[in-house]
Amino acid sequence: MDSPHNQAMRSPVQAPTHPGQKALPPDFESAHFRQALSRFATGVTVVTTLAPGAQKGDTHSNSFVGVTASSFNTLSLQPPLVLWSLGTQARSLPLFHAGTHYVINVLAQDQLELCQRFAYGQGDRFAQSAYQLGQSGLPIFEGALAWFECHNRSRYEEGDHILFVGEVERCGYRNDTTGLIFHTGQFGQFAPLNGQGTRA
Ligand SMILES: Cc1cc2nc3c(=O)[nH]c(=O)nc-3n(C[C@H](O)[C@H](O)[C@H](O)COP(=O)(O)O)c2cc1C
Repeated sequence: MDSPHNQAMRSPVQAPTHPGQKALPPDFESAHFRQALSRFATGVTVVTTLAPGAQKGDTHSNSFVGVTASSFNTLSLQPPLVLWSLGTQARSLPLFHAGTHYVINVLAQDQLELCQRFAYGQGDRFAQSAYQLGQSGLPIFEGALAWFECHNRSRYEEGDHILFVGEVERCGYRNDTTGLIFHTGQFGQFAPLNGQGTRA
């Protein structure tokens, strides 16, 4: 039975394997795979949660951890679900695993520095960051293009990453700027095609 506070590590449902239809081993090198993946343009997010020993209501910058993640995506409208994944080597993994909530901050085009700080920065990554605390007590960055306060609904172990499914409790967005874009290992900005394909 599913409940809004279910935090189970779920087992992925395996595809049926008929004799002679098993997955074949990859016919490519890992670097080739990465290059192919990098052709998929993504936005960039910083996901925040509570640091070890911190509690909801703590306000000091060292009460939080955050990581840059481009693996964010939509999953479901009803109920409102989003997903992202974190490598099993990430130091913050136990915190995202155990925490009840996290905030996914979608970065605006002028937030490259924030992206780099939460990917490579040592020490207190929040000390030089401007943020406010959401209702969950977790940081929402000033200037973020959008934010999603999520209940940590479920996790799935797959390969060298853990897939997180978050149930969105609150969200917000800006209308006056566009997102930071990550493509072929480079950062850029969104540029609409003139007069084509506009969708509300
Ligand atoms: C643009 C960009 C996107 C990234 N996306 C992800 C991601 O989706 N998942 C992930 O595990 N690491 C991702 N990383 C790497 C992590 O941000 C980085 O390894 C982080 O410091 C790991 O967290 P830790 O400090 O808890 O070890 C990304 C890095 C960059 C620069």
